[in-house]
Amino acid sequence: MTIYRGTFVDCPDDPFAGGALRTLTEGAIVVRDGVIVARGPWDVTVADFPDEPRVELTGGLVVPGFVDTHVHYPQLRVIGALGRPLLEWLDKRALPEEMRLADDDYAAEIALEFVGSLVRAGTTSALVFGSHFPGAVDQLFAAAEASGLRIASGLVVSDGVLPEPLLTTAERSLADALGLAERWHGRGRLRYAVTPRFSLSCSDALLAACAETRAAVPGSLFTSHVNENVAEIRQVEAQFGTDYVGTYDRHGLLDQRSVLAHNVHPTDAELAVLASRGSAVAHCPCSNSALGSGMFPLRRHVEAGVRFALGTDVGAGVSFSLLREGLQAAFMQLLMGAEGLRLNAAPLLWLATKAGASALGLSDAGDLSVGQQFDAVWLSPVEGTTLDIALRNAADEGDAVSKVFALGGSSDVRRVWVGGGEVWNRRH
Ligand code: GUN
Ligand code: ZN
Repeated sequence: MTIYRGTFVDCPDDPFAGGALRTLTEGAIVVRDGVIVARGPWDVTVADFPDEPRVELTGGLVVPGFVDTHVHYPQLRVIGALGRPLLEWLDKRALPEEMRLADDDYAAEIALEFVGSLVRAGTTSALVFGSHFPGAVDQLFAAAEASGLRIASGLVVSDGVLPEPLLTTAERSLADALGLAERWHGRGRLRYAVTPRFSLSCSDALLAACAETRAAVPGSLFTSHVNENVAEIRQVEAQFGTDYVGTYDRHGLLDQRSVLAHNVHPTDAELAVLASRGSAVAHCPCSNSALGSGMFPLRRHVEAGVRFALGTDVGAGVSFSLLREGLQAAFMQLLMGAEGLRLNAAPLLWLATKAGASALGLSDAGDLSVGQQFDAVWLSPVEGTTLDIALRNAADEGDAVSKVFALGGSSDVRRVWVGGGEVWNRRH
């Protein structure tokens, strides 16, 4: 058992439906076997546990571990290539790098760098776009297992449009995916995610094989891209004769364990389908800005009852920090004027934590309630930085959370725990 002392802030209930920030100042959280068993004011709570070890997290804030609902492992090294729209960026930047992961040794290096980047950002759970090469996906799962993070990932599949080395067939995709799922799905904190790259690079036969894979792997997730870029959407509609959401839905791929990235340009009919299936959208505002994909219709998602959370979409996205995504989401909504929704501390923290856990089907992560796993991040900036000064002068915890989103990043992450086990310690 361990008792953590600090200022804890979380957002357990949906602020778009009345939920609010919850703060525990000068508080205690008691963890046994990785699970939160008690919480309350420090003086009162420690009296019940007089002999247990104590961990002081003084200064800064402790928040639930961040959840990244959309991030590409093979794109780590092409991060920051600015100034191109989606299809050109894929062609010139992302895909040439992704082809290098045919080499298992290269993939192993990237996998280690990738999980290291996640933990340093305070990300404790992620739905990760894998590689087109099964060996590279094995490397990712191995690194993820060693890291202690909660990771869902899988083989990315395509059978058209992309360069030949990245292509598979319906039959081969099924065999490769089942092999990977057998090795990794349900092992510790790892789960398999069926992952067609996007409809544009998939035939109906391949999407049918994805449905078959899913049926053969109970509890697996489904993830892909949708409605990201206007030129892409036009091509998908011409190729399939249906709207973009329909290309997945007609194969039965959309349910409560499905996460579609972007959805910047949905029709009302597509939003209605997503809501009725209980599927979630990964909103990736830094990527949408970097690729000029467009402004995310967040208000329409709320009004249609479509679940959504945040994703970094590295390498089109420009960092691993969910704090940065929250800030960009807030900027984007304000810039949308009457069509946007104002996002302050509560919805930002919700979207970066609990909403993501819910999208990934993790019912015991995303907030710091009794009974939840202790997945947590101690945000404690280096002394003298602007965030340090801002936090010392915050009006209240809501203001402090707002300042963390405005100014914070990976360098402000001091310690990180998953299921009570420490996975990162900055040590100064
Ligand atoms: N659509 C298909 N592949 C990709 C990708 O790698 N990144 C993004 N942002 N969109 C995609
Ligand atoms: Zn993506």
